[in-house]
Amino acid sequence: MYIQKLFFTTAIFMFVCIYAFCQKQTGNNSNYVPQKKIICNNGAVVSAHWLASKAGVAILKKGGNAIDAAIATQLVLAVVYPAAGNIGGGGFMVAHFTNGKNISLDFREKAPEKASRNMYLDSAGNAQINASQDGHLAAGVPGTIAGLFASMKYAKLPFAVLIESAINLAENGFAISASQARSFNRTKKEFIELNFSTIAFVKENEWKAGDVLIQKDLANTLKRIRDNGQKGFYEGETAKLIVAEMQKGKGIISLEDLKKYEAKERSVVDFTYKGYQIITMPLPSSGGVILQQMMKMIEDKNIALMQFQSAASVQLMVELERRAYADRAEFLGDPDFVNVPINTLVSTNYLNARMKDYVPGKAGSSKNTMAGIIKESEETTHLSVTDMDGNAVSVTTTLNGGYGSRTVVGGAGFLLNNEMDDFSIKQGVPNMYGALGNEKNAIAPGKRMLSSMTPTLVLKNGFPYLVLGTPGGTTIPTSIFQTLVNILEFNMSAEEAVNKPKFHHQWLPDIVSVEKDFAKKIVKQLENMGYKIVIRDAWSKTDLIQIQNHAKGSKTIIAVGDKRGDDDAQGY
Ligand code: DON
Repeated sequence: MYIQKLFFTTAIFMFVCIYAFCQKQTGNNSNYVPQKKIICNNGAVVSAHWLASKAGVAILKKGGNAIDAAIATQLVLAVVYPAAGNIGGGGFMVAHFTNGKNISLDFREKAPEKASRNMYLDSAGNAQINASQDGHLAAGVPGTIAGLFASMKYAKLPFAVLIESAINLAENGFAISASQARSFNRTKKEFIELNFSTIAFVKENEWKAGDVLIQKDLANTLKRIRDNGQKGFYEGETAKLIVAEMQKGKGIISLEDLKKYEAKERSVVDFTYKGYQIITMPLPSSGGVILQQMMKMIEDKNIALMQFQSAASVQLMVELERRAYADRAEFLGDPDFVNVPINTLVSTNYLNARMKDYVPGKAGSSKNTMAGIIKESEETTHLSVTDMDGNAVSVTTTLNGGYGSRTVVGGAGFLLNNEMDDFSIKQGVPNMYGALGNEKNAIAPGKRMLSSMTPTLVLKNGFPYLVLGTPGGTTIPTSIFQTLVNILEFNMSAEEAVNKPKFHHQWLPDIVSVEKDFAKKIVKQLENMGYKIVIRDAWSKTDLIQIQNHAKGSKTIIAVGDKRGDDDAQGY
């Protein structure tokens, strides 16, 4: 009897193991629970979806470096995480190589040549926010594929190998998660309204966890990219399909816009904080500049003494967030089009002057805190990677809003961004994240819209120590700022630093947003100081890798996916 029972239990156990293994191999595992943390020694990838993180690690194991893994991960995200992973959007990459070189790649979308300053105003001069956010006219010229190819010069493996998993998952499908099913169901109405063709994300009945999403058109687009390189997207069949889609919906992206698109390698934002070297994204993302301003404004304040999320430390951080975002609105835009006084904005004298009117214990006011005076001439996704040799890559990409414009290129199977809304479409009219801007970020043909994306690396003694980034629109720089302060000042573990509640101030509106689990006692104290507090759903989804003990051969990699999403950490 006992033997029979043992045999029976063992058989069931083996069946479950084999079933789980097969499910994982095909990606058809809707019960998969994201792995939030891994400690390993060779390499790691953290991203918004386990299939993407796994594909990245598989590339590392095949001998690819961190760039190879980042490319493969991004391509899989474009298939399995359509709300933000993309080939129809744009983004930024920051990388550190073992030879000491740091690079940043700008593959932000551009305004099409037919775009004009007032294109989203009606005849009475009123801003038409729908047009900059929904459908064809909202799309900027996509940059992601150009970005991936620009990074290929640092890669080791052929592109065909890097894109293979993405093609397989698009062609054969994968089981969607419960949160993905809910998200498709929520967006169904807009998908129907904003598309002329039938799209893979809409089906008659409700989506549920475990349903398989097959994207044949997308698979064919990815194959054209595999076979023809960058031209497989920006010229030929795919480009024709994009332009045909534009014509159906009053969009303005032309064949010429696509052919002319170029990713740009730019000098990184590079500064020190108490001996750490911080490498992050320059304009046209505002993220790096604001992060530098905020870090530099607390460097001499001994915030560690005030302790994590005490009313005093939160107030100090809120006040410098306010000042940095006021400068964002006033001074920042695409450096290829407008002059930005960067050196002054991050100089010690200027930043000291900005904090002169800070009064501990008393709320400042955005009405009185304008940008400094200078006299001189909710969907994005992030991935963090490190490899065996110690290269580190941080990539944030986006379609802007969830599913971008929600318009799929008919016959090509991918979503177009709604990034045009990140321009200041009219002075005084905030974008969908409440960010204001002026002439510096006004629309012009070929110009890149200002971003907040902040892919970041921290080096310690010249070796990568932290690799991080997050989605979240305007909350991105403040989430990165707080995660860094949590580790560098409050001595938190990687996991705690990522998962602790975040708060956010962006100058206007003059409110402090706090995540739901932020301490109620501190909310009260801040209110007593005169702050208006708004409790919001969680917004940050930071994917972080910490590399301890850098000496080659004995390093420890701690990779952490944010608890707030399906984010998943893989490594070996
Ligand atoms: O570039 C930007 O700053 C925005 N388009 C990012 C949007 C975003 O992070 C949405 N994610 N939740």
